[in-house]
Amino acid sequence: MRSNYCGELRKKHINSNIQLCGWVDRCRDHGGVIFIDLRDRTGTIQITIDPDQGSKLFTLAESLRNETVLQIHGTIRSRPPESVNEKLETGEIEVLVTDLKILNEVKGNLPFNVSIHDEEQVKEELRLRHRYLDLRRERMRNNLHLRHEVVKGVRNFLENNNFLEVETPILNRSTPEGARDYLVPSRVCEGDWFALPQSPQLFKQLLMVGGIERYYQIARCFRDEDLRADRQPEFTQLDLEMSFMSQEEILTFNEALIAKVWEKIKGIKLKVPFPRLTWKEAMERFGTDRPDTRYGMELKNLNDVFEGIGFKVFSGAITSGGSVKCITVKGGNKSISNVRIKPEGDIFNEAQKAGAKGLAFIRVRENQEIDSIGAIKDNLSKKQKTELLEITKAKAGDLLLFAAGDTPTVNKTLDKVRQYLAKELNLIPLESQKNKWDFLWVIDFPMFEFNSDENRLEALHHPFCAPNIEDLGEKSRWSKNLPEARAQAYDLVLNGLELGGGSLRIHQPELQMKVLETIGLPFDKAKEEFGFLLEALDMGAPPHGGIAFGLDRIVMLLAGEESIRDTIAFPKTQQAKCLMTKAPGQASEAQLEELHITSTLPSPEDE
Ligand code: AMO
Repeated sequence: MRSNYCGELRKKHINSNIQLCGWVDRCRDHGGVIFIDLRDRTGTIQITIDPDQGSKLFTLAESLRNETVLQIHGTIRSRPPESVNEKLETGEIEVLVTDLKILNEVKGNLPFNVSIHDEEQVKEELRLRHRYLDLRRERMRNNLHLRHEVVKGVRNFLENNNFLEVETPILNRSTPEGARDYLVPSRVCEGDWFALPQSPQLFKQLLMVGGIERYYQIARCFRDEDLRADRQPEFTQLDLEMSFMSQEEILTFNEALIAKVWEKIKGIKLKVPFPRLTWKEAMERFGTDRPDTRYGMELKNLNDVFEGIGFKVFSGAITSGGSVKCITVKGGNKSISNVRIKPEGDIFNEAQKAGAKGLAFIRVRENQEIDSIGAIKDNLSKKQKTELLEITKAKAGDLLLFAAGDTPTVNKTLDKVRQYLAKELNLIPLESQKNKWDFLWVIDFPMFEFNSDENRLEALHHPFCAPNIEDLGEKSRWSKNLPEARAQAYDLVLNGLELGGGSLRIHQPELQMKVLETIGLPFDKAKEEFGFLLEALDMGAPPHGGIAFGLDRIVMLLAGEESIRDTIAFPKTQQAKCLMTKAPGQASEAQLEELHITSTLPSPEDE
């Protein structure tokens, strides 16, 4: 139906007879000549309908609405110099139309303008409801193209390195990745349920036992969790697993993979190796395991300074095993008023969202004098004051913001306040926001964290991560040493966002059993849930490890978008709904009956 794409035509095509198909981007009637911008996936070109080509053709062109689907025949000619459009790659030429056919009309009202000339901000709800129209717009078209290029680059790199693409099942037993499962009832095995994969974790490990050695998959994963801008219920991982590689080799290999993608997409040579921080250091210095290292304002621990002081909020926190930490806001005396730090102020609110009861502060004045509201200042000796200023490196004009309490809450509070202030104070200058790439490996995660609701340890990543051999010691000491051991696990963080995570895996069944026991899974239950894995590990499992990157997140950062919804063709909303198809929807009585499912949800009439 067509000889060329609209966006590929250039001066070299002048005098060619061509056929094009596409959508009417916009029409203009200029004193008897009609100009139409015809758009396809590659771009737009101006097509010109001259009355000299016949009144039938002209009358047809006059009636065209935006987004009508056309096929045209014509000849390429150069535009007169005064009407060259330098913004368009095809702007030096136009098509003189000799024939025009309407392939499909637009009957209804368009909910928003599609045109590349229209930069109207359309509400996301409307865009998602009519995603097929939104996909025609430049932003989504570019993002999907970028996504495709990323995947192509990754495939190419992995295939050149002997990786085999293997698909793993979607209908599964549950894989413990920490989120809720999406469940699918089995009709045939009455009363049983499949879980959709939260990741292909166990299958990729079993592929290693199966001798595949190097696996990858562009894997769809499903997690029923609270959604944010960087989380979708259904998302895509670049999932990798490899045998006979040390952690060091895996990190180096993945740095090369990421560097390749950035080189291909951004034309940038990233500096490798990426910096590394241990989990402990990341928590201490930034209060989070995914720190944004594009700016400073690091957390300082002040337990040594404030231990035993008369200001009970601080000394009490330390006595009960917690911490007092602070961040130094350079020039904060000028930029931040007391109102913002006190109850109901915006900065106070951020701290409160993280669980803090308050946000103490000190202002540093000339000659190293300090000012505080409340009792901190009065309770500090000269020596303590000097120590405080030394540790925080605070100078006249700076503001110190403190959090005190249990260490996790203190960390969370100052992390949140630090991130908030970085935005408020423009600590990442606008011009570098789109091209500053601070990659970071966070390594040496703990194996477990304490789940206070369930009063038990749970795996920080997942229970298949290998513990650090140094921390594990002799076999007889495994049970004792495991709870405190570090995992051979790593996360790749970029500008404060977790891009990927992985680990070396346990490949000995006894150790796997011990880890499952440590998270409170009794022997029988572990056998029932993971018997197949334990059995496989006993049949010549090679040492192996891997990683999964969030593809949607990689594309989001490369595209300069703020939400992964803008990198996915058909995403879900924050309520995990599809606004276009209205999924999820009701199942029919007959379907439910066949599956032996009844709802316990009160019907609206019962309420
Ligand atoms: P993890 O759970 O850390 O590891 O996930 C890996 C990466 O997947 C992305 N991601 C998400 N992206 C969008 N929406 C979500 N809801 C979502 N959840 C996670 C993140 C994250 O870093 N099986 C292990 C990997 C391994 O050990 O090899 C796993 O899934 O970018």
